[in-house]
Amino acid sequence: MKTYVILISGRGTNMEAILSADLPGRCAAVISNRPDAAGLAFAAGRGVATVVVDHKAHADRAAFDAALAAAIDRLAPDLVVLAGFMRVLGDDFVRRYEGRLLNIHPSLLPSFPGLRTHAAALAAGVRLHGATVHFVTPSLDCGPIVVQAAVPVLAADTADTLAARVLVQEHTIYPQAVRWFLEGRLRLEGSRVWLNGECDATGVLIAPTG
Ligand code: GAR
Repeated sequence: MKTYVILISGRGTNMEAILSADLPGRCAAVISNRPDAAGLAFAAGRGVATVVVDHKAHADRAAFDAALAAAIDRLAPDLVVLAGFMRVLGDDFVRRYEGRLLNIHPSLLPSFPGLRTHAAALAAGVRLHGATVHFVTPSLDCGPIVVQAAVPVLAADTADTLAARVLVQEHTIYPQAVRWFLEGRLRLEGSRVWLNGECDATGVLIAPTG
C-alpha cells in the first residue's frame, strides 16, 4: 500500500477531505510549518501522526526546505500532498520530489497564480473560476495540470462566496487526484500527465452549475 504525507499551513479543510475519503493508501503524517495550524488537531483526532517544522525556527528558506525534506524523508512517502501549504518551496526541494509532489491552487491555472485569487477573478470579470490540482514544478503555482474544476461566477458574488463555491470543488478533485496516484493510475512523464496510460485523459473539467 502506498503512503503519503500532507503538508498544511492553516485550517486544513482539503486535508480533512483527503483523510475522510477512504483512500487506498496510508497517511504517514500531516506536517505543518505553523505550530498553531488548526488542521493539526483534526489529523491527531483521526490518529494521524503530526509533525511541525516551524519556518520561523530556520534562518532562511534553504534551511527550512532542508529541515522539511528531512522530516518527509524519515517517513519515506510515495506522495507529498500540498494542501494549503503557504510557503514557497525552493527549486531543490521541488526537484527532490518531482513526479510525486501535488498541489491544489484556488484558480483555473494558469490564470490567477499567487494569493487573493478570488478577488482577482472578480476584478477580471471572468465568467468561470475554479481550482486546479497540478504536479509541482519549480515555478510558483504552476506545473502539469492533473484536474480542474470550474464554477460559474455569479453577479452577486463576493470573494468569500466565490471562495466557498470553489472550495466545495477542491474537496472533490483533490481526493480524486490523490486516489488516482495511490492507485498507480496517475504519473508525470516529462511535462505530461498520464492517467490510465493515456496522456489526453487528464485535465478533466467539471463544470457544476452551482
Ligand atoms: C485552499 O483554497 C487552497 O486551494 C489554497 O489555500 C486554501 C487552503 O485551505 N492554496 C493556495 O492558495 C496555494 N497557493 P484549507 O487549509 O482549508 O485546505
